[in-house]
Amino acid sequence: MTKNTLPNTKPIMCKIIEKIENCEDTFVFLLDLPVNVQGAKPGQFIMLWVPGIDEFPVGVAGFDNNILEIGVAKMGPGTEALLKMDVGEFLGIRGFYGKSFQPPKNMKVNHLLIGGGFGMTPIKMLTTSLLKKEEKEEIHIFEGARNKSRLMYLEWFQKLHDENKLVFHVCTDDGSYGYQGFPTLDLEMFLQETKTPSVLYVAGPERMMKAIFEIGKKYENVIDMQMSLADRYMRCGFGVCSYCAVDPTGWRICVDGPVFNMKQLEQISDFGTYRRLDTGEKQRI
Ligand SMILES: Cc1cc2nc3c(=O)[nH]c(=O)nc-3n(C[C@H](O)[C@H](O)[C@H](O)COP(=O)(O)OP(=O)(O)OC[C@H]3O[C@@H](n4cnc5c(N)ncnc54)[C@H](O)[C@@H]3O)c2cc1C
Ligand code: FES
Repeated sequence: MTKNTLPNTKPIMCKIIEKIENCEDTFVFLLDLPVNVQGAKPGQFIMLWVPGIDEFPVGVAGFDNNILEIGVAKMGPGTEALLKMDVGEFLGIRGFYGKSFQPPKNMKVNHLLIGGGFGMTPIKMLTTSLLKKEEKEEIHIFEGARNKSRLMYLEWFQKLHDENKLVFHVCTDDGSYGYQGFPTLDLEMFLQETKTPSVLYVAGPERMMKAIFEIGKKYENVIDMQMSLADRYMRCGFGVCSYCAVDPTGWRICVDGPVFNMKQLEQISDFGTYRRLDTGEKQRI
């Protein structure tokens, strides 16, 4: 049977066809979808079911010819069980969910993509899509991690940099790769110098995103900031349970986000300060 969307409420079983260690405690999986499905957009996510264990949200890193790429970092019981799974085993997925990144149309801009940790998965997919654009614009990737072994998709971005397809600004806290420091350092230097309008697309730990948001606000040439609020607990993934709602707007991250623009982020008082646990209780970020 041929379908063109994934089921929204019930998982469909997909075979793991490749499993690659990408960096410390992080694996990339390629999943073969058993139905014909229309493409996912950069920034969207799926709900991933590890049979007998748990279901949790995971971003889309790539989607081509019905092969779905995800990148998963070890966090708790769900991700730990997933990372033990192997080629030939089956996982359940449903989606694709959420709002995607929206590069501006008919306007020449610098695309500045900033990420860390599993946030590099939507950044990878967005990069792939920007590189396909006919009009060539500057693409800059800013990635930071504790050390070299925790830089996700390092080789993939470094290769594109070496081929002059984009500029890769990479840094580590301990200086083991790239410059020593945080991605905010190079980003701010770039914003001080450029005259071209810039759009910032960010996915990573929320404290980092909040710091970037404060920097971006200082520069008039920053015309939009789009950030993926994936540092959040989700249960249904499609707007029913309200577990992922943020104050004071009540927006549900799974349907109104996870990607929010600059004007929306201004209105979310929880952004960079609080998130909810699975009990619904608020926890400081
Ligand atoms: C839209 C979205 C996209 C995501 N994409 C990816 C992805 O591409 N790759 C990936 O590896 N992970 C991703 N995550 C995070 C992943 O869903 C959580 O880490 C998930 O809870 C892991 O389940 P677990 O059973 O392993 O850990 P849990 O037992 O659920 O959590 C372990 C610890 O992590 C904390 N935690 C739970 N959820 C989050 C969260 N969202 N962010 C930070 N800490 C959390 C918990 O409070 C707990 O302390 C995404 C989350 C969202 C909301
Ligand atoms: S996870 Fe249920 S409403 Fe968002």
